[in-house]
Amino acid sequence: MQKIAVVKGDGIGPEVIDAALEVLDHVLPGLQQVHVEVGYGRWRRTGDAISAQDIDTLKDCGCILFGAITTPPDPSYKSVLLRIRKELDLYSNIRPLLGNGMDIVIVRENTEGLYSGIEDIGDKRATTLRVITLEGSRRIARAACKVALQRKRLTVVHKSNVLKSDTLFLNSCMQVAREEGVLADDMLVDAAAYTMVRSPGRFDVMVTTNLFGDILSDLGAGIAGSLGLCASANLGDRYALFEPIHGSAPDIAGKGIANPVGAIRSVSLMLQWMGEHKLAANVERAVKAALDEGFLTPDLGGTMSTRQVAKAVVSHL
Ligand code: IPM
Ligand code: MG
Repeated sequence: MQKIAVVKGDGIGPEVIDAALEVLDHVLPGLQQVHVEVGYGRWRRTGDAISAQDIDTLKDCGCILFGAITTPPDPSYKSVLLRIRKELDLYSNIRPLLGNGMDIVIVRENTEGLYSGIEDIGDKRATTLRVITLEGSRRIARAACKVALQRKRLTVVHKSNVLKSDTLFLNSCMQVAREEGVLADDMLVDAAAYTMVRSPGRFDVMVTTNLFGDILSDLGAGIAGSLGLCASANLGDRYALFEPIHGSAPDIAGKGIANPVGAIRSVSLMLQWMGEHKLAANVERAVKAALDEGFLTPDLGGTMSTRQVAKAVVSHL
């Protein structure tokens, strides 16, 4: 039997992951779960947010369900999520965005770009190096083409009119699209943001660099109606991590009102990755049925609790 690692994390992480596990236990009972406690809470207690041994445990499980982790504005604290993405080489971040005329999958490069971590911070001048590599661009383009081949087409989103590093990204992606036989066009990131709001139906699969993907996926979540609705898969060639795209939302933590849909949809993405396509589709259908029935948390204007929404989803399975 396959096992997964579960990282509930901080803030609303534990609440939404408990809801997601309720759904997972229902569709795939008996799956072994290895709980790994990492994050800000642990850092405050022990001075260590994540250890090398935790990374080994995550690698050993191979598949991770992840809640959310708080990153405090403390310069000595390094983002746990970014460390996991780098160490497990989870280079492709797949973010489906659905609702309000939008059915888009953003494929975000997840290990380089402005997240290179190469920085020089002085009092009068601070720089961050934006790294685009040929192989990094080609592999994210291949990941995006794999998605696009099952859908319709690909749009490469970039800023090559200003950033010459993006010329390499754009050209590499277009070349891979030709090799893979994928219908592709491109758009500047500012125009893409505008077009997503004005005519979201214009896009199918979008591939872009790290920070642009981070920003556009939140924009898409806003169009969908709430960050709480959206899920993501962080994939590499060996490991995979599934997480809602929202953060730890400390302001509503512990109130039982966090939207569990992003976490539950992350379970659906995980089931897909496991090859359980039917179960994945069932979860997605059950989520839609629960939402259509009016099981909405406050972020969507409803009054339902996290647990009520989770129960409603389970009742539709
Ligand atoms: C995301 C988040 C992360 C990111 C943060 C928490 C480091 O915003 O997954 O979109 O910037 O990638
Ligand atoms: Mg983000």
